[in-house]
Amino acid sequence: MMLKNKASDNQPDTVLEIPKEIGSITLVNGNDTVALCDVNNLKIAMGMDDSPLLPAGQIGAIVKIKVNKGFVYATVRELVRHDVRTEDSIGPVKHIMMYLDYLGQGLRAPYAPTGVSFDRGITDFPVPGQLVYEVSYDDLEAIFGDNDTNHFHIGTVFPQHMTPASIKTDSMLGKHFAVLGSTGTGKSCTVALLIHRIVERMPKGHIIILDPHDEYASAFKDCGKHFDISNLRLPYWMMNFEEHVEMFIGRTDSAEREVEVDILRRCIYAARVDAATSLQSEKITVNSPIPYKLSFILEFLDNSMGKLDNPDSLASFMRVKAKVEELRRDVRFAFMFSGMLAHDNLKDVIKNLLRFPVEDKPVSTIDLSGVPSEIVNVVVSMISRLVFDFAVWTKGDNSRPILLVCEEAHRYVPNSENTVFVSARKSIERIAKEGRKYGVSLGLVSQRPADVSESALSQCGTIFAMRMNNERDQSFVEHVMPEGSKGTLAALSSLQNREALVVGEGVRAPVRVLLDKLDENKRPSGGNPSYSEDWQKEIEDDSFIVDTIENWRNQGR
Ligand SMILES: Nc1ncnc2c1ncn2[C@@H]1O[C@H](COP(=O)(O)OP(=O)(O)O)[C@@H](O)[C@H]1O
Ligand SMILES: [Mg+2]
Repeated sequence: MMLKNKASDNQPDTVLEIPKEIGSITLVNGNDTVALCDVNNLKIAMGMDDSPLLPAGQIGAIVKIKVNKGFVYATVRELVRHDVRTEDSIGPVKHIMMYLDYLGQGLRAPYAPTGVSFDRGITDFPVPGQLVYEVSYDDLEAIFGDNDTNHFHIGTVFPQHMTPASIKTDSMLGKHFAVLGSTGTGKSCTVALLIHRIVERMPKGHIIILDPHDEYASAFKDCGKHFDISNLRLPYWMMNFEEHVEMFIGRTDSAEREVEVDILRRCIYAARVDAATSLQSEKITVNSPIPYKLSFILEFLDNSMGKLDNPDSLASFMRVKAKVEELRRDVRFAFMFSGMLAHDNLKDVIKNLLRFPVEDKPVSTIDLSGVPSEIVNVVVSMISRLVFDFAVWTKGDNSRPILLVCEEAHRYVPNSENTVFVSARKSIERIAKEGRKYGVSLGLVSQRPADVSESALSQCGTIFAMRMNNERDQSFVEHVMPEGSKGTLAALSSLQNREALVVGEGVRAPVRVLLDKLDENKRPSGGNPSYSEDWQKEIEDDSFIVDTIENWRNQGR
């Protein structure tokens, strides 16, 4: 077959390479457009291995349409065979309908280095008959290149991987972000990459990672402070009332639950009022973070039981009392209930966790893997609330932006209404909804986006979508994605590892990125067991079994 270059005469003079014409527009509407392409032209565009030009005939690829004022750029969403004569429908394909989503427009800008200036809006829509071209390296540079200093690089733009892909820092952090994708596609590495790049540019940040698998400590050895239950200090009195209920009463559907909640409310209120020497009691609520003494609660319960007229509720009093005593004794809860935490150490807790001052460690990694599972939700809730409330109550000039990253977001911010524990979800949803006003940024990470609270996820302005195989997740992500990214999203299920589609506020246009490779010592230590290696060797020393049993019994590592 003869391959002829069909570049047309009215090609623009601002672009260095001669663009290859691949088809013409047949249908236009406000959101998308359709082009009819000659397969031979597509083959020319796709067949040149040594060309830096983009293979235009691929899902997710970018093409440009010549309009009066310059070009309209669009991404390929769908390709359908289009051969007019029926006898052709079984022969070789000659024509293809290309469904395109608008990406933005490029106006001729002779003084810009690339000759084109890119803009997300479209003022000059294509009309049927206008020609469609593949894009050049300069086009991609104009679309994705940086024109300011407020950005950082995370990888290179698909498919030639020559243009650096950059993220706009303030836009990404200011409007929250999410990293979504199936297990093993590189979400945790992407989080580590983003944070490393942010920290390289802004070494005095305040970043907190809720880390359920203890994988991030190894990624931030040089710039992170690691917390686990051995050095985390979260005084019990910082809990609000809802968290108290989850902690002390938990999930019983019994008829006495109401009674117990009421008892708890009365004794915590009394304990807070008793402890607050400098505050008027009208200003105190069960939620005020005033340090109170557990011994006060026990005394209060004893006194109340002594005065009871109706012995029916005695059992409820006894249960609350037993729970308080149990929590006080249990060593697994020492990071919250140790006697040392009865004092007012809120200042130290905040300084430590939120990194004031930063002291070259802008990242706090909080290992939740050792936190007893029945209270991990309360812990997540307390930390999120601490971050948010601190930001809310910090006045004007003193305020510092804080980033909270939540791994396994489907666990802590689930979509379903009927989850048992709601405090974590409430606290994080509040950051999602109101955080930006107070400089609290949220990063949600999940392999099951469809199970993450929609109201939280839809607040994420920038989405890093890794490969996603589950259709429900894919359609959910499409649903929460900003308009016009559908073409880019079409490639969701076919992404390689380390590849991500990035859409939203943080990028100039939806983009498919090959993420930079992280050095071994900057990667999260995801447990990827190697069966093929491990099962080759005999176990030489079996003392680890004793250690394992000990950890198991202690419920701690
Ligand atoms: N940017 C990257 N740099 C280096 N390795 C990566 C990168 N992204 C993914 N990987 C590799 O992929 C594996 C799985 O990535 P991980 O982030 O743990 O996936 P997920 O969190 O989605 O389960 C990692 O162990 C790592 O080897
Ligand atoms: Mg992970």
